[in-house]
Amino acid sequence: MIVDKCKSKLLSTKNVSKNFGGVLAVDNVSIEVHENKITGLIGPNGAGKTTLFNLITGLTKPSSGEFFLLGKKYSPFKIHKVVEKGIARTFQNIRLFNNMSVLENVMVGRHVKTNFFSMGVFSSLFRITTYNNCENKQKEICIRILEKVGLLEKKDLMSSNLSYGDQRRLEIARALACEPKILALDEPAAGMNPTEKIKLKKLVKELLFEKVTILIIEHDVKLMSDLCDHIYVMDRGKIISSGKPTDIKNDKKVIKAYLGSTSK
Ligand SMILES: Nc1ncnc2c1ncn2[C@@H]1O[C@H](COP(=O)(O)OP(=O)(O)OP(=O)(O)O)[C@@H](O)[C@H]1O
Ligand SMILES: [Mg+2]
Repeated sequence: MIVDKCKSKLLSTKNVSKNFGGVLAVDNVSIEVHENKITGLIGPNGAGKTTLFNLITGLTKPSSGEFFLLGKKYSPFKIHKVVEKGIARTFQNIRLFNNMSVLENVMVGRHVKTNFFSMGVFSSLFRITTYNNCENKQKEICIRILEKVGLLEKKDLMSSNLSYGDQRRLEIARALACEPKILALDEPAAGMNPTEKIKLKKLVKELLFEKVTILIIEHDVKLMSDLCDHIYVMDRGKIISSGKPTDIKNDKKVIKAYLGSTSK
């Protein structure tokens, strides 16, 4: 077993690459995510940010490279295994269950943390006491999560009836329902208005206090500067720069590749 000596390093990738036909979407990327910190990933459209998230969370198989979680090598080839290991994520293109209520969406996210879905057909069919107790307890936890993200009053609405910003917060709630150690957020502020962005910033900072480590992709540079402890900048599959937000801002490579090439 390969053990990493740096204790605060919760997650890391080593020389990870992903080839789609002729496109090298992720090119030899090594990053580190430290416990109780907010690590950011920025870069122009098509830089490979989402692909890197997909590799870390088991949605896409790597062409090469290694992944480490809590100092141990892991193979992110199955998404449910990755969730069980403590990594949850949200999606750039919102993926909610539109025909379910807000609360039901969070309950689905909760199922990996509970065994009540696996309690057997008999107990669930006849809703015996243990099943009901377990279901009620899980519901309570989900309600508390909805309260945390500010969606409690909307718990019985169909998720498709939520505003864009609320749908993004529901995605966060669903990810939080499996009590992750690491929460990976892919453009959580996309489509949010300035007030919603302020609320999002507050929520992300609160999660740190609850010992959730954050990995975040965002195009909003101001939001990222305010939030992140450390930022990686990707361009054409490669990490072209990394450091504190102030270091990144003054890096000519970054200005050329990202800040100079987008109005976002
Ligand atoms: N499933 C796929 N099949 C083929 N090519 C893909 C696939 N997914 C991503 N790519 C390509 O890989 C490159 C990186 O895409 P990716 O979505 O990771 O970029 P991104 O940095 O997240 O961009 P954005 O900021 O627009 O979300 C792009 O050229 C994209 O077209
Ligand atoms: Mg993306």
